[in-house]
Amino acid sequence: MAMVVAKQLKKTYRSGDIDVQAIQGVDFTIQPASFVSFVGPSGSGKSTLLNMIGCLDPPTAGSLQVVGKDISNLNRQQAAKFRGEHIGFVFQDFNLIPVLTVFENVEYPLQMVQNWPREKRRKRVQELLEAVGMGDQGHKFPSQISGGQKQRVAVARALVTNASLVLADEPTANLDSTTANHVIELMKKMRDEFGTTFIFSTHDPRVVNNAETIFTLEDGKLLQGKGGNHV
Ligand SMILES: Nc1ncnc2c1ncn2[C@@H]1O[C@H](COP(=O)(O)OP(=O)(O)O)[C@@H](O)[C@H]1O
Ligand SMILES: [Mg+2]
Repeated sequence: MAMVVAKQLKKTYRSGDIDVQAIQGVDFTIQPASFVSFVGPSGSGKSTLLNMIGCLDPPTAGSLQVVGKDISNLNRQQAAKFRGEHIGFVFQDFNLIPVLTVFENVEYPLQMVQNWPREKRRKRVQELLEAVGMGDQGHKFPSQISGGQKQRVAVARALVTNASLVLADEPTANLDSTTANHVIELMKKMRDEFGTTFIFSTHDPRVVNNAETIFTLEDGKLLQGKGGNHV
């Protein structure tokens, strides 16, 4: 079963009297445990595409299958449930909760989404913190760690519920290039360890080299051939 299948997928935003065709009929397939990057300049449609895959924003036309389910017509409640069960997110500004410790930030989705007993929860959180090299930093607050460390914590949080798909929209935009590459390497390591599919977007060519499969977006279309390495 493919992880994501998009067929003639389109997204049009209405902006006043103007239709903005953010995604103009794209086709692609992403297999389980792959490590994929959508690349393209600002405004090419990367966030729009990731938001559709993440059930945050419904497609205007075409079909979109995620983890074997047709998600093009889910209502808000169904979309929220689907996200909680299958998808983890990593954001460019990390989105950690400042009043919670590192440990509590990673624990949060388990409390919200899955009703696990305390001991099981704590064991799982510690396992993930160790996997991302933050095992001894759980007591700290987000303000006490670096940008690269914050993104490690965000990766742990995205994986803690056992999501089969993690979406990361420009996860390295606020990091220097060395730290950016470390975060991408970490995500790849997590893919190897847990078999999670990772889809990230970037406009940074220094980060792209780390992806195994690259889809290049331009004006809402996928470039074919060179740079449009379809799986
Ligand atoms: N909510 C929205 N309303 C209107 N236009 C939008 C909206 N979101 C994105 N767009 C437009 O869609 C296009 C693609 O945007 P986006 O997906 O954010 O690109 P990227 O993430 O690659 O920078 C751009 O022209 C952008 O202005
Ligand atoms: Mg974007």
